[in-house]
Amino acid sequence: MNKRITVIIWFCCLPLWLIAATRTAIKIDTDALSLVFQVGDNGRLYQSYLGKRLHLQTDLSQLSLGTEAYITHGMEDYFEPAIHVVHNDFNSSLLLKYQSHETKQVSDGTSETIVTLQDDKYPVTVTLHYVAYAHENLIKTFTEISHQEKKPIELQKYASSMLHFSNAHYFLTEYSGDWAEEARPSTQPLYYGKKVIDTKLGSRANMFVSPFFQLALGDEASETEGEVILGSIGWTGNFQFTFEVNQLGGLRVISGINPYASAYKLSPNEVFRTPDFYFTYSFNGVGEASRNFHRWALKYQVKDGEKPRYTLLNNWENTSFNFNEEKLVNLMGEAKSFGLDIFLLDDGWFGTKYPRNDDHQGLGDWTEIQEKLPHGVGYLTEAAKKQGIKFGIWIEPEMVNPKSELYEKHPDWVIHLPNRDEYYFRNQLVLDLSNPQVQDFVFSILDNLMTKYPEIAFFKWDCNSPITNIYSYYLKEKQSHLYIEHVRGLYKILERVKAKYPNLPMMLCSGGGGRTDFEALKYFTEFWASDNTDPIERLYIQWGYSQVFPSKVICSHVTSWNRNTSIKFRTDVAMMGKLGFDINLSGLNENEASFCKQAIQNYNTLKPVILDGDMYRLVSPYVGNHTSTMYVSENQDKAVVFAFDIHPRYAETVWPVKLQGLDPQKQYKVQEINRMPNARGGQYAEPKTYSGEYLMQVGLNLFSAYSTSSKVIEVTAN
Ligand code: DGJ
Repeated sequence: MNKRITVIIWFCCLPLWLIAATRTAIKIDTDALSLVFQVGDNGRLYQSYLGKRLHLQTDLSQLSLGTEAYITHGMEDYFEPAIHVVHNDFNSSLLLKYQSHETKQVSDGTSETIVTLQDDKYPVTVTLHYVAYAHENLIKTFTEISHQEKKPIELQKYASSMLHFSNAHYFLTEYSGDWAEEARPSTQPLYYGKKVIDTKLGSRANMFVSPFFQLALGDEASETEGEVILGSIGWTGNFQFTFEVNQLGGLRVISGINPYASAYKLSPNEVFRTPDFYFTYSFNGVGEASRNFHRWALKYQVKDGEKPRYTLLNNWENTSFNFNEEKLVNLMGEAKSFGLDIFLLDDGWFGTKYPRNDDHQGLGDWTEIQEKLPHGVGYLTEAAKKQGIKFGIWIEPEMVNPKSELYEKHPDWVIHLPNRDEYYFRNQLVLDLSNPQVQDFVFSILDNLMTKYPEIAFFKWDCNSPITNIYSYYLKEKQSHLYIEHVRGLYKILERVKAKYPNLPMMLCSGGGGRTDFEALKYFTEFWASDNTDPIERLYIQWGYSQVFPSKVICSHVTSWNRNTSIKFRTDVAMMGKLGFDINLSGLNENEASFCKQAIQNYNTLKPVILDGDMYRLVSPYVGNHTSTMYVSENQDKAVVFAFDIHPRYAETVWPVKLQGLDPQKQYKVQEINRMPNARGGQYAEPKTYSGEYLMQVGLNLFSAYSTSSKVIEVTAN
């Protein structure tokens, strides 16, 4: 037998697993998860596994190859690709082959794996990045695209991430709504075909649909049971999630910028970096997935995520545009006497030629209105100092009213069509942040205020209009870059703000919850979740946002939106997030005022648990007439339980609420707090002791048959 034949026979006799073992495998691990890629014999990269952690290297060789990891347009696939490029010769195919990979430890608990892929005919490189957060079981992915063709190539699709699943059933939960009704969940099974969730709002991600989703695998997931992926994209503009089930039942999930009207000319050697897509995978229901996100967000993503937050009094719902110095100074005094930390002056303090006395004019002209503030903002910061309270101020620096000096001077700084009538969203237009001069201007608004009035301790940064009338004078023939460059321009401004004022807390607002994404939260300590502050509606809205956002970033204010609810009910709801008041405090009666003061004190004591602890959603407002959520400190020594009766039915039977997240071995003292001064009775008015096991197996009687009533229970380990 000649030598060649011997080798062939020997090779054919090898067990399959040994042949497979020679494949390059790339394994990305967190404490509980593994994501495995393998390189096929054809040199292409495949996703072979995503699921519970695989510990044995030898098991990898048993995995089937799977599905190509980052599918390209123009080859043999029949479904949605992750990337679509057009080369200099108008050929629009891409065939990516594995080149190399490396994994580096970024910090204790964080590693990054970078896989480099290259086309074998064109000088196009794609690198896939996977940052694994071990203890939070969260993976952040993004993609970089570059090339060395002679002229720019055109990117028509450029996903941040593509993930593949192979399960018998899929259930997708999206969080959609509108202004004042943000983040409403709805679940649907996915069958053959495509479901796309995307937005085209330009200057924000959210309004009609939030930039996050839940995907239950196999069966529907509950708070405590089931396999579920929770995913979110970090992009303060048009985003897109595509879920496509193929003829074999395989599901691909493609996440990234919405490529709508956004073909991107990529110059040679320029690197196109996509936004980050983050996901976690829980095998114990949605609650665990949310807690993974919360812990990760506070530790790694949100500005000052691990630092404390301040309570505040805002004047918007109370005075709207109608205030003067005296009124504001009185409000500061009231805020101080209630024990609040900041007084926040909202919209309406600026405009010279066009005073901002309503929302039709003045936006863009950032000098104080003489009639309202004859002594300027400095007078207010001084007054706040005297009262012993911090001072914060509202700006909306990216926007302009056509009736403004800014618009008169710089019409070319505004996104609008040169040859058509303008369409206004809240009587305003969006400044063109792709233009570096405009970036300087926007930065200078905050910078000038801080330079002139360094005592300003807090900003509320608003952004009320999506992009309409889309046209950039600056970008000229590159109009299809506008959606992308606008958002990049915003980040450049925010980088400068953060670099120069690293310790300045800022609330992000966008006509309610328009800007609720994790990339924006790198620069902001919190966000305004909704203009709807009716406490009943807030129970639902906050439930929606809590899927991915920790309570520390969800601003929640006590207002007069629903006067039929008690001040206690409203305050109890607001205490589940970053607490503020936006109400006429002097209009409260004695009992109400003393309740609020006590509640603010309670909140200050319990902030470490509510804002930094683990959240357990116990009873959903979507399944009945009651809802309950609790927060538990990391060492399980302290917990706070909130329970609300929304609209109980006549003679309805109410069931005990089983707590979660406690130590079954510990004994806990249970006591109702946040009681009205004149409250009588109540099962937990006096402290009682229970084991953690009892509290979790039997539960507490927290619900009642009284409409819009609430309880806050403090649970303390003995
Ligand atoms: C919209 C915000 O959501 C409100 O809280 C308030 O700041 C107004 N803008 C002011 O115009």
